[in-house]
Amino acid sequence: MKKLDGKVALITGAAVGLGEGIAEVYAKYGAKLCMVDLSPEVEATADRLRKDYGAEIITYVGNVADKEQMKAAAAQTVKQFGALHIACCNAGVCRLAPFEEMTDEMRDFHIDVNIKGVWNSCQAVVPYMLQQGGGSIVIASSVTGDLVADAGEAAYAMTKAALVGLTKCLAVEYADRNIRVNCTQLGYARTPMVEKMAQESNPADPESAIRDIAVGVPMKRLAKPTEVGELFAFLGSDESSYLTGSQVVIDGGSTLPETMSMGTN
Ligand SMILES: NC(=O)c1ccc[n+]([C@@H]2O[C@H](COP(=O)([O-])OP(=O)(O)OC[C@H]3O[C@@H](n4cnc5c(N)ncnc54)[C@H](O)[C@@H]3O)[C@@H](O)[C@H]2O)c1
Repeated sequence: MKKLDGKVALITGAAVGLGEGIAEVYAKYGAKLCMVDLSPEVEATADRLRKDYGAEIITYVGNVADKEQMKAAAAQTVKQFGALHIACCNAGVCRLAPFEEMTDEMRDFHIDVNIKGVWNSCQAVVPYMLQQGGGSIVIASSVTGDLVADAGEAAYAMTKAALVGLTKCLAVEYADRNIRVNCTQLGYARTPMVEKMAQESNPADPESAIRDIAVGVPMKRLAKPTEVGELFAFLGSDESSYLTGSQVVIDGGSTLPETMSMGTN
């Protein structure tokens, strides 16, 4: 019996990066999936997982910022599989700019995808979870915003911190109806998002920007998307049955060092 046998999960932002890693781990553990993404590339990713794990997967090409599309994705999931036990609200965006140059359009883009996208995803799945007597929602926040930040991340940090508040409120609101809501706070994993941020941070040498992230991490490396997927699988599964409203940091220790110069190492 695998950890997610019999479970049906909807995963947003599942074409590449962390969403692909989450979907891969969910497929490995036996879940049936609805993989949602803005990009039609999600179908190729799903096909790989069908071949590699024999997983039952449907895809939905849509925008988390559009509530009707998210409702349609949830409805298709239930129509296909008869239930919806887990939602992984992973889709998100990050663009860097000095605060004084950040346009309102850029700010609103982050709010639309990162905050309203998760809001819409939760509102789309909660009615089914209430009907079937429970469920688990896992939200991709970040260490950025709530715990740390780098210059240029004002819009991103603001929206990721907001997701901690949403997690806490939904957790308390639905605790007595058996819907658990937790969020993850990842440091850095190598994904298309981080490669783009490295390009924006150091256009002349983006690889060195990625190498330098690892220097500041006590484990001296970035996370693999499947390592983050393992945490999403634990939080989605019944193994975490007494966890709700938690913010789980997964960062190789990156938020721990007080300085880069003091101590015996
Ligand atoms: N990579 C990291 O180091 C890191 C760290 C902390 C938190 N996170 C969070 O993890 C999540 C995934 O990050 P990633 O690095 O894999 O990003 P990514 O940009 O590499 O991949 C994001 C995926 O989401 C999809 N997507 C984007 N906007 C969408 C929308 N409006 N509707 C539907 N799909 C959409 C993209 O098409 C893409 O497939 C994000 O919420 C991000 O903020 C990432």
